[in-house]
Amino acid sequence: MRIDWDDLRNRARLAAARSYSPYSGFAVGAAGLTTDGRHLAGCNIESASYGITMCAENSLVADLHMNGGGRIAAIAVVGNGESITPCGRCRQLLWEFGGEDCLVDIDGTPTTLSTLLPHAFPTLPLPHGSGR
Ligand code: THU
Repeated sequence: MRIDWDDLRNRARLAAARSYSPYSGFAVGAAGLTTDGRHLAGCNIESASYGITMCAENSLVADLHMNGGGRIAAIAVVGNGESITPCGRCRQLLWEFGGEDCLVDIDGTPTTLSTLLPHAFPTLPLPHGSGR
């Protein structure tokens, strides 16, 4: 599928405008595309209890799941206007919903999640788990 990365970065900038980040002052927006061509967006949401802050990629995954589910094909993330790379926790979360072939914009270069997160924790079925 053809991915318009400039468009994704612009959408990430628009999403960042919705950020709630009074504690860090770092407004993050994420924009994604599903494998069936739907657009996704998310922004970071902070809390006075700093540790429960949600990254922009978290709310993008909520957008995915609330609007039909599916798989993430590509994602771009912008922080205070510049392209940024997803944090480690978000890489694992994106792995759940995009898998190893999900493409992430890294300084203008589409990069697979398997490159960004080698030896990711596996998705279901977990080894020795029942999946409850
Ligand atoms: N943040 C994200 O939204 N995504 C990332 O991948 C890294 C960090 C947010 C969390 C916090 O609100 C702010 O950036 C500063 O860490």
